[in-house]
Amino acid sequence: MSSKVYPVSKSAKTRALIDSDKYQKWYEESIETPDKFWGKHGKRIDWFKPYTKVKNTSFKGRIPIKWFEDGLTNVSYNCIDRHLKTHGERVAIIWEGDNPYIDKKITYNELYDHVCRLANVLKKHGVKKGDRVTIYMPMIPEAAYAMLACARIGAIHSVVFGGFSPEALAGRIVDCESTFVITCDEGVRGGKPVPLKENTDIAIDIAAKNYVIVHNVLVVRRTGGKIGWAPGRDHWYHQEMASVKPDCPPVKMKAEDPLFILYTSGSTGKPKGVMHTTGGYLVYASMTHEYVFDYHDGEIYWCTADVGWVTGHSYIVYGPLANCATTLMFEGIPTFPDQGRFWEVIDKHKVNIFYTAPTAIRSLMGAGDEFVKRSERTSLRLLGSVGEPINPEAWEWYYHTVGEARCQIVDTWWQTETGGIMITPLPGATDLKPGSATRPFFGIKPELVDAEGKTLEGATDGNLCITDSWPGQARSVYGDHDRYIQTYFATYKGKYFTGDGCRRDEDGYYWITGRVDDVLNVSGHRLGTAEVESALVSHHLVSEAAVVGYPHDIKGQGIYCYVTLMADVEGTDQLRKELVAHVRTEIGPIATPDKIQFAAGLPKTRSGKIMRRILRKIAEDDFGALGDTSTLADPAVVDELIENRQNKK
Ligand code: PRX
Repeated sequence: MSSKVYPVSKSAKTRALIDSDKYQKWYEESIETPDKFWGKHGKRIDWFKPYTKVKNTSFKGRIPIKWFEDGLTNVSYNCIDRHLKTHGERVAIIWEGDNPYIDKKITYNELYDHVCRLANVLKKHGVKKGDRVTIYMPMIPEAAYAMLACARIGAIHSVVFGGFSPEALAGRIVDCESTFVITCDEGVRGGKPVPLKENTDIAIDIAAKNYVIVHNVLVVRRTGGKIGWAPGRDHWYHQEMASVKPDCPPVKMKAEDPLFILYTSGSTGKPKGVMHTTGGYLVYASMTHEYVFDYHDGEIYWCTADVGWVTGHSYIVYGPLANCATTLMFEGIPTFPDQGRFWEVIDKHKVNIFYTAPTAIRSLMGAGDEFVKRSERTSLRLLGSVGEPINPEAWEWYYHTVGEARCQIVDTWWQTETGGIMITPLPGATDLKPGSATRPFFGIKPELVDAEGKTLEGATDGNLCITDSWPGQARSVYGDHDRYIQTYFATYKGKYFTGDGCRRDEDGYYWITGRVDDVLNVSGHRLGTAEVESALVSHHLVSEAAVVGYPHDIKGQGIYCYVTLMADVEGTDQLRKELVAHVRTEIGPIATPDKIQFAAGLPKTRSGKIMRRILRKIAEDDFGALGDTSTLADPAVVDELIENRQNKK
């Protein structure tokens, strides 16, 4: 833990929407009288029918959570239509292509046209309110149009990250029984094509075997590459868009109607379809976007996430557009054509607010300062970080080298399930400590508990819970509300359990220490160890697998796999490569194992439970303190595992 403190700068304080007094006042009000507080702030979005009820929530029983329940609104209307009268010609989206010579700007008027047309295309093909539409797209504006078009007609979108494999895509299509897919011929990343349509075709075949038939695929032409075509099922986006009307009235949605499903990994089983609803989500996403980034009218804002993750949903599309911001969408990667790309884009588009992940910061820090120094970055005003704990060294580099000690840093802690930022500095209100996400946002009541669920006070380490609802909270797991209750509310009764460990210091600052469950965070991507294990054991030569994380300089965590092979199979380097390729096929490149150790046996208790604690220690090459191994069924396996460890320092 770094003991340094960076006070709010004078310039940040002068311009800030929220200073420390206002933060205190608003925070107290949000906690003491949430109905009054949110009743006021819920009005930041437009309602077709105003709500009269504000908060109706409980963390007990079936966990009923309703915000603004009798209000009617529409997310697409709020992100587009309401801005047109005064800001129709403002740029809504700046798109920066993978190729540094390609970019384009889309105004709010143009956004309206694209989204309405696409909504009409969906309607033409029979998509109705409540239907699930899968969006499997690269980072092109059409991905945002697709999300907003769904929202316009009340269809529920499920965006699947373009880096996921056909298997993973199929699983998500099947789980929410989605019969309409929007994709692209090929994506482009770092100069290389990504075969999205080909993957979609394979996924659709897998889904059909699981009795979910995709009837329509809408294909955006991005590269013009060669693709397969199923007549009747596949439709070209540009042709369809040309044949429909440019207006489409937004459907009046109840505040609690679902807006989207987003799949995320947990400690057990398959990824869960986290479900977010309409009114509360948009109020929370737009409010956090405005205050956390201290967003002022006319500023250029860039979040480098992919729309396939929640950060892309809340802070590339919904939050910024609801605030009539100019949001930059980047198709490429930070290292193409070279490691100076981020800084070049900042200069090119005069970016004021830049929001990225620690893994990118660490990797660019490793590339050397000359890439940064090549750029001016004079437009930059605020820097943000999200997705994993940021180590103080990376924080300091971000602050001093990228921001030249001029820009406040907001280290924002949140999750797919929280819909928006939960613990974060506010630029004009919060003194910064490198590595700390600092303080709760309005309405957020964090609590640290011990393993038994006892509330811990003062400066302490504990498991991070949230004790009352906030408008952006996920309402359910799609199709499985029991799993929602079980996953988030069963560990500590009456509390939402985040799965994260956390330290609170003597100033009441929160320091997230990482997951305390079997969830990995690899380069800011959330991955269940159980998912990687099940991918490994689906290989015909593997009998058993256990996966743990270990500290990795760039990725935050690396993936370490212990694999027991079938009898008489030899663990060769060739097989290692085959297993790595197999996991990539089953899940996608983000799940690429870093280390595979072949093991004759795994350490198990007498009742057959794998002792992950031991496996973690060996993977960390820190086996001096293995603790008690006497309860193992066969303590000798541990010596063998240590002997053959893959991370010898
Ligand atoms: O462990 C925390 C980590 O990312 C997890 C949530 O992952 P996901 O749902 O994919 O959402 C990522 C983007 C919001 C959390 O449980 N995490 C996220 N932000 C931070 C973080 N850990 C430390 N500091 C953060 N700022």
